[in-house]
Amino acid sequence: MRIVLLGAPGCGKGTQAKMLVEKYGVQQISTGDLLRAAVASGSELGREAKAIMEAGQLVSDKIVLGLISEKLASPELSHGFILDGFPRNLAQAKALDALLKGKNLPLDAAIHIHVEAEEIVKRITGRRSCADCGAIYNIYFSKPKQEGVCDKCGSSNLTHRADDNEETVRSRLQVYEEQTAPLVTYYSEQKLLATIPGTGSIDEIFTAVCSALEK
Ligand code: AP5
Repeated sequence: MRIVLLGAPGCGKGTQAKMLVEKYGVQQISTGDLLRAAVASGSELGREAKAIMEAGQLVSDKIVLGLISEKLASPELSHGFILDGFPRNLAQAKALDALLKGKNLPLDAAIHIHVEAEEIVKRITGRRSCADCGAIYNIYFSKPKQEGVCDKCGSSNLTHRADDNEETVRSRLQVYEEQTAPLVTYYSEQKLLATIPGTGSIDEIFTAVCSALEK
C-alpha cells in the first residue's frame, strides 16, 4: 500500500495514519514530524524551518524533498507507506511522481479527508500529542483516560504544538487553500482520489478510509 493522505491542517491525517499503520503494517512518513524532529535537534535545517513553521507557512521544497528522498530510500518501506502532510503543493507532487517512477513504486491512492474550517480551529487548539510515543489526543473530543497521561505509553509528557494557536491555524488554512487544495484536482485527474468526509467519530472515518482503500 502506497498512499498519500491529503487534507487541511487538523483534518485527522495523523490520527488516521497511525490507525492505518497498525492495521496494515505500513510506515507513516510525516513531513511535519520529520521537521519537528529537526527543530528539536537544533540542527541547521531545524533552525531554518522553525520560524517558518511557527508562522504557518510552508518550509522550502528543497528541504522537504531532501527529507522525503532520504526516507523513501529506506528498505523498511517494502510493505508500503503513508505520506502524511506531503506533498503540499504541485511542485512537491510532481517531484514525488518522478521519485516513485524512478523506483517503480507508483501510488495506489490519495485519500482526501474533508473537514470545514471552523471545526478545524477547535480540533487544533485542543490537540495534545505525547512527546514520547506520538499518540494524539484532544481536550475536547478525544481525551486520554487519565488527564495528562498517555493511554499508550503512560508518559505524562503531553504537549501542545507551538503552531497550534488560533492565529497560526488561520494562516495554515489559508496556505492549504492556496497551495495544497489544488492537489485534489491533480490526484482526481490521475484517478487516484477518494474524498472522505472527516466529521464523525474517529472510528467511523477510519472505516470509510479502509473501504476506500480496499475497493
Ligand atoms: P503538519 O505537522 O503536517 O501539520 P498539518 O498538515 O497542519 O496537520 P496537523 O498535524 O496539524 O493535523 P492532522 O491532519 O494530522 O490532524 P490530527 O490527526 O493531529 O505540518 C506542520 C508544519 O510543518 C506546516 O505548517 C509547515 O510549516 C511544515 N510542513 C509540513 N509538511 C510540509 C511540506 N510537505 N512542505 C512544506 N512544509 C511542510 O488531528 C487534529 C486534532 O483533531 C487532534 O487533537 C485529534 O485528536 C482530533 N481529531 C482527529 N480526528 C477527529 C474527529 N474525527 N473528531 C474530532 N476530533 C478529531
